[in-house]
Amino acid sequence: MSRMQTIGRSQHDFDFASYSKAKRDLIEIRLTEYLPVSSPDTLWQSMRYSVLSGGKRLRALLCLAAAEAIVGLNSDIEPFLPLACAIEMIHAMSLIHDDLPALDNDDYRRGKLTNHKVYGEATALLAGDALLMLAIETFIEKTIKTADPQVMLNIISHFCHAVGASGMVGGQILDLAFTGKQQGMENDKNETNHIDAQTIEAIHKSKTGALIKFSVWSGARLAKANVEQLSLLEQFADKLGFAFQIADDLLDSTGNLETLGKTPGKDLAANKMTWVTVFGEKLAKQKMRDLEEEGLAILNNRVLQAERVKPLQELLRYAVHRKN
Ligand code: IPE
Ligand code: IPE
Ligand code: MG
Ligand code: MG
Ligand code: MG
Repeated sequence: MSRMQTIGRSQHDFDFASYSKAKRDLIEIRLTEYLPVSSPDTLWQSMRYSVLSGGKRLRALLCLAAAEAIVGLNSDIEPFLPLACAIEMIHAMSLIHDDLPALDNDDYRRGKLTNHKVYGEATALLAGDALLMLAIETFIEKTIKTADPQVMLNIISHFCHAVGASGMVGGQILDLAFTGKQQGMENDKNETNHIDAQTIEAIHKSKTGALIKFSVWSGARLAKANVEQLSLLEQFADKLGFAFQIADDLLDSTGNLETLGKTPGKDLAANKMTWVTVFGEKLAKQKMRDLEEEGLAILNNRVLQAERVKPLQELLRYAVHRKN
C-alpha cells in the first residue's frame, strides 16, 4: 500500500486524500527535476537516493497548505513549490544524519537501507551537507523572479534559525545528550539529571518542531500573510510539530518495520527521552490528542478564512492519526 493511501479519505467534508495526492505528485515531479543525475556521480546518487525515496512529504504539504490558507485553495501554487521542495531537501538531510552510527545508528529508512548503509558514512555526511546547500540555492534561484527580495531574505534568515543551533541541529544534540551518548554534554543536562515534561517538550520542539514551524510560517510569509495570520499559524504549527513527534514516538513503540519503513523499538533500547518512554503510551496519546484539539482551535479564528484552512486542519489530524 502506498504511503498516501494510508492517509485515506477524510471523514470531513474536504477530500483530503485527493488533495494530498495531487500536491504530492507535484512535489515529486519537482524534486526529481531539482535533483538531476549529475557529477560527482556518487554524491548525487546518494542525494537522490534519500530525497527521491518517498516519505510522507508532510513538511512540503504543510508549506503549500499554509500558502493556500492565505491565497485561497484554487490559486496557483507554482510560486511556492521551490520552497516546499527545499524544505524536503533539508528534511532528507536531517534524516541521513539522524540515521548515522554516531547518532541513532539506524539501518532502515522509508523501507530501504539507510543512506550510509548503501554509500558509506563519508558520502552520507557529504550528501547531507550538499542537500542543505542545494535547498537554499533552489529556493533562491527558482523564486527570485517572482518574490520580493526582502521577503526572501526574511525567509532565508528564519530558515537558518530553524535548522541551526537554535532549531533542528540544537534539538538533535539535546536528544543525544539525554541518551548519554554524546561526550562532554554534562553541562547541557540539569543538575539532578531529572527529565521533566518541559525538557522533553524543548527537545521535541527544536529537533522536529522547528522545521515544521518553518514549513508553515514560510509558506504563509511567501504568500504575504499579515502579522496576525503569521502569529496564529506559528502557534498552530507549534502544536502540530509537538504532536507529530509524539506520534513518531508512539509508532516507534507500537509499529513494525513493514509499516514504518524503519526499525521500531529503538527509542527504549537507546534510552531516548520521549513522552512515551518517560510517561507511558496512555499519557502520550492523551497529550497528543490535547495538542490536536488545541491546534484545531487555533485555526478557528476570524483572521483566517474557514474554507482556506481545511488542508491545514486535515494535515494536523493526519500528523496525529497516521500509521507510518
Ligand atoms: C521522521 O519524519 C523524522 C521525525 C522528525 C520524526 P517523517 O515521519 O516525516 O519522515 P518521512 O519523510 O515521512 O519519511
Ligand atoms: C528525528 O527524530 C528528528 C530529526 C531527524 C531531526 P527521530 O530520531 O525520532 O526520527 P526517526 O524515528 O529516526 O525517524
Ligand atoms: Mg533521532
Ligand atoms: Mg532517528
Ligand atoms: Mg523516532
